[in-house]
Amino acid sequence: MNSKKIFVTRRIPQPGLDLLKDFNVSINLEDRVLSRDELIAGAKGKDAVLCLLTDPINGEVMDAVPSVRIFANYAVGFDNIDLEAATQRKIVVTNTPGVLTDTTADTAWTLLMTAARRVVESDTFTRAGKFKGWGPMMFLGVDIHEKKLGIIGMGRIGQAVAWRSRGFNMRIIYTDRKRIAPELEKMLRATFVTLDELLSESDFVSLHVPLRRSTHHLIGKKQLEMMKKTAVLVNTSRGPVIDEKALVEALKNQVIFAAGLDVYEHEPLLAPGLAYLDNVVVVPHIGSASIDTRSKMATIAASNIVAFFNGEKPPNILNPDVLL
Ligand code: DGY
Repeated sequence: MNSKKIFVTRRIPQPGLDLLKDFNVSINLEDRVLSRDELIAGAKGKDAVLCLLTDPINGEVMDAVPSVRIFANYAVGFDNIDLEAATQRKIVVTNTPGVLTDTTADTAWTLLMTAARRVVESDTFTRAGKFKGWGPMMFLGVDIHEKKLGIIGMGRIGQAVAWRSRGFNMRIIYTDRKRIAPELEKMLRATFVTLDELLSESDFVSLHVPLRRSTHHLIGKKQLEMMKKTAVLVNTSRGPVIDEKALVEALKNQVIFAAGLDVYEHEPLLAPGLAYLDNVVVVPHIGSASIDTRSKMATIAASNIVAFFNGEKPPNILNPDVLL
């Protein structure tokens, strides 16, 4: 038995917990997000915390639990953790990149297609017994094939979304802080453009940027107004990348055709009015929620902790300088 104490802030798939079986593990079994005080109480006296994207961990929290040497985030995004504060305190932070790329890209496509073809509206209509026969004007959506897909953020997930567009013979335009390799651009048939060009030319816009100061409200009123009236906006990245209040207005006034959202600005709350709109598909941050992927995320998060306590460099360390 390893004497190291680990706090897992919420139940995760068993394969991850199995990897931690030799440690002294305590888990929040209530299957709900802990309050800041509960998080601190749970992490007090522990050596490691396996935490979630719903656990805000700033310098104050770190100072309240000084025994914790590693926060292993069960997510690829780590905007919930103040990385700089952790580095200053020589605390290791890890994430779970790679494994959720394809699952999240699948989710982006699910939202894109569902919003474009008004699937949720049609489903609700049919279940309500309102379907009285085929109609030429019923639930007209927008085509996907042969259209232009704009990808904002051409990292792993953005590229996976781009690959999937080939079956629909779409053209890809993208923007990012820097261009991808020319060979990759060629394979993906992707053209690098400015954000403004992307917004005004795309039939579909899919967001794949991390949440940073520079990406907060990247899409606001002005950007929505630059988009085509027939365009669909998809967000599987982080909610605050979109000014959600501006999006509600844009959807209400048909400035754009529709949106598909997995993430929200003030998660788990939705902006007032959003849930009443027919031209938006809303799902509860399930981008990576497949049985396989969530299990892999659990094993990766746990492996980072195991590696750290074995004196090895955790494979997904975000602040390697801490180990120098
Ligand atoms: C992540 O890992 O950052 C995702 O948002 C989880 O689905």
